[in-house]
Amino acid sequence: MCGIVGYVGRSEAGPILLDGLRRLEYRGYDSAGVAIVDGDHVETRKCAGRIAELGKLMTEKPPGGTYGISHTRWATHGKPTDQNAHPHFDQSGQLALVHNGVIENYQSLKEGLLRNGQHEFISETDTEVLAHLIGSLYDASAPPNGSVPPQNEKSRLVRAVRAALQQVIGTYGIALVHRNIPDFIVGARRGSPLVLGVGKDENFLASDVSAIVAYTRDAVYLNDFDVVAVERDKFEISSVAGEGGNYEVSKVEFTEEDIKKGDFPHYMLKEIFEQAGSVRDAMRGRLSTEECTSKLGGLEMTAAELRDVGRIVLTGCGTALHAAMIGEYILEQVAGIPTEVEFASEFRHRNSPMTRDTLVFAISQSGETADTLGALRESRRKGYRTLGICNNVASTIARESDGGVYMHAGPEIGVAATKSFTAQLTILMLIGLLLGRMRHLSTSEGTRIIEALERLPEQIEATLKLSNEIKRIAQKYASANGILFFGRQFNFPVALEAALKVKEITYLFAEGHPSAELKHGIIALVRPDLPSIFITPDDAVFSKNLNNIEQVRARKGPVIAVTTGKGADRLRQVADDIITVPATMDFITPVLTVIPLQLLAYHLAVELGRDVDKPRNLAKSVTVE
Ligand code: F6R
Repeated sequence: MCGIVGYVGRSEAGPILLDGLRRLEYRGYDSAGVAIVDGDHVETRKCAGRIAELGKLMTEKPPGGTYGISHTRWATHGKPTDQNAHPHFDQSGQLALVHNGVIENYQSLKEGLLRNGQHEFISETDTEVLAHLIGSLYDASAPPNGSVPPQNEKSRLVRAVRAALQQVIGTYGIALVHRNIPDFIVGARRGSPLVLGVGKDENFLASDVSAIVAYTRDAVYLNDFDVVAVERDKFEISSVAGEGGNYEVSKVEFTEEDIKKGDFPHYMLKEIFEQAGSVRDAMRGRLSTEECTSKLGGLEMTAAELRDVGRIVLTGCGTALHAAMIGEYILEQVAGIPTEVEFASEFRHRNSPMTRDTLVFAISQSGETADTLGALRESRRKGYRTLGICNNVASTIARESDGGVYMHAGPEIGVAATKSFTAQLTILMLIGLLLGRMRHLSTSEGTRIIEALERLPEQIEATLKLSNEIKRIAQKYASANGILFFGRQFNFPVALEAALKVKEITYLFAEGHPSAELKHGIIALVRPDLPSIFITPDDAVFSKNLNNIEQVRARKGPVIAVTTGKGADRLRQVADDIITVPATMDFITPVLTVIPLQLLAYHLAVELGRDVDKPRNLAKSVTVE
């Protein structure tokens, strides 16, 4: 979690750092700060609260200087206070550091520093310990007397950073400056993302390219254990162990326009409305009408290898896990391959026996989620072929997997995942089609699926037109005490996903369950101020859902139904509100049924006055365990 931005160039660093932090605010927003070196002193502004608060401080007293570092925080060690906000300083007060990650052995490092009696800590953070450690190693390496040429000071600082990081257990993306070394920033990463933006007579460091894409689209995605020394007109990458680092300058896929809200009041709404395009992009060039199948070159597997897959494990967290759960139904039904879903956080620590022919997919929008990355690494360590389904190009999961499929959903900035979910479902449907066609699906069945998939973007457009109707429903239920969601088969995980959206952004109590579980206990919750939402397309299990709806009605529970086609006629007598989305093949329905529920969560949150894009206690990408 947390976002960091660094700048060294000829422009005033303050506005650039602040602008970058605003773009990274989705990564954490409980405190923020900057350190900018102006001549012979380090100007620091930091405070608890949002970037806007930091902005006020910087307007009141603008810090001068053309190089500096900055940070937006999602607290792990220490409360979100002014004191715990980054940057943190070393004992000399000359070295300032920002950090994204967790230093697991910070207590023992701190004790070691305290033992020599020269260190005093003013925050509760692990970051301050790292700043002191680097500072003390740097100071200890100073030549006994006399000044040192600036170039040697730079390499001395880099050596101190390496030596400190060799003692660290945990994860870090860091950036630091030293008052005595002009126009120089050092960055390093392990487990937390860090990208170098290469500009003209200026360079940048950031947790995510969105912070710097307004200034440059040339980026170097740093690898774990890279240490980068950044100056205005050059940079040098080496490893923590001191070896020369390999790197490649890539072009960032998106532009500044893509990360603007445009006319939408919130990123979440913008991203919900982008879904026709993002689903189309996820399918683009991947459907072959001639061969009645899909083409997924990124899997890096031959037809024979794909043919030999005997079992699939899908893993991820949160929304990605819900997509995986629908993927399980899809892969079993469409491809006929036994499939299991594993919470990434459990899978990585469990010794789950798997057969040799198991293929593992790690699903992650950000490609940086610590638990999913841990699961991927454990799976690869055990020798299983492990593929990624990621949105973030060049993310750690994408780079560390044996192959995979990019979602191409475009940047997702709203903390609540929306378009990445439907893109993940689209990819899982393409994988189902590919593997199914290698097994039992005929050409005509393949064609039927392709035709249904091709209709999907238009059907999404039609579904989005329901937004005003859904807003009315949200207003009607805004004073409810919570919401229960129910669904069967492909739409049971949609119930989980809808409940997650409601919890995240409205803070209302919400739960998702398989409809049939109602009578096994949940029915005790049913009462007039707790609406039940049934996701019940007109499919093979429609009548079963209808029975469950009757059970809720009999206990005076309000019912909202999301259905397709003729379902609406049969629901009229039993549901208080009905939302009808276009009909499609059963396994494709989740892409359409989830959209009104994303909209419902959104409109409810607005109605309740919540901060939709920055819900409390959350951050977009969870790079800590
Ligand atoms: C929910 C949400 C989270 C993420 C989860 C995994 O709206 O955003 O539950 O889905 O943290 O994130 P990724 O997909 O980046 O691995």
